[in-house]
Amino acid sequence: MKTDMASRARTGPPDLWDPVVRITHWGLAVIVILNALITDGGSTLHVWLGWIGMALLLLRLVWGLLGPVEARFSAFPPGLRQAVSHLRALATGRRVGHYPSHNPAGALMIYAFWASLAVVTCTGLVLTGGATPMQVAADKAAVASGDWSALAREEADGGEDGGAFRKQVEEVHELVADLILILAVLHVAGVAVESRAMRRNLVAPMLAGLRRSRGK
Ligand code: HEM
Ligand code: HEM
Repeated sequence: MKTDMASRARTGPPDLWDPVVRITHWGLAVIVILNALITDGGSTLHVWLGWIGMALLLLRLVWGLLGPVEARFSAFPPGLRQAVSHLRALATGRRVGHYPSHNPAGALMIYAFWASLAVVTCTGLVLTGGATPMQVAADKAAVASGDWSALAREEADGGEDGGAFRKQVEEVHELVADLILILAVLHVAGVAVESRAMRRNLVAPMLAGLRRSRGK
């Protein structure tokens, strides 16, 4: 294991991220974009995508403990000082280090993503009273056919105080969803800058892998 880490430390991040990292990455990216920009908040589709996102996030977090070396949390620990010195090296055109997994600045961004996704998921669950997407769909159908008792469940408002609480949860949900979009813009810019500095296409390993013939 030690030799494996050491040799990767010389060569940088993997030529191809494992399938769990790739599927959870692109799955979460698509879901964030759809739910933040396209689906109707609270619609059955929005809740379905939210639940799929929750499953992908949980899978990735378990993978951080059990997955291959470069996918583990231990391969990219959060470190503010390391992140700052990495960014300083980038800004001053000094040679940046090669890391066995995500670089220290990327690592901070990634933990911020995961924490924000956890907040958006939990607040979403509070807004729907923990109802599954199937229950949400059934409640919407019941309301549409005139069963108003389903409305309270659908909105999970819990009375007057509950209404104010719900409003606050809704605000946190939307605010953190916006924060994720801002992080995503910085993230894509960061990937472009790092790829240039490392003279290595970082997106390819997240898609289908780098070809060995590309100078490796
Ligand atoms: C990737 C995760 C998610 C993102 C980016 C996201 C984003 C958003 C945004 C931007 C809104 C406000 C948009 C609008 O009012 O049309 C919203 C509303 C809402 N979301 Fe999400 N959401 C996510 C996950 C979830 C989950 C997991 C649930 C439930 C399990 C959920 C339930 C709701 C509900 C019920 C509303 C409506 C609030 C209201 O106006 O009453 N969301 N979401
Ligand atoms: C809302 C959209 C996005 C979110 C939430 C997101 C989130 C993440 C997360 C959580 C990781 C860590 C992966 C892991 O270890 O599991 C990551 C890595 C990565 N993402 Fe994204 N991402 C988004 C969009 C994109 C886009 C559009 C690109 C393409 C330019 C991209 C390229 C990458 C790359 C190349 C890495 C690996 C960086 C490295 O080598 O250290 N991401 N992203």
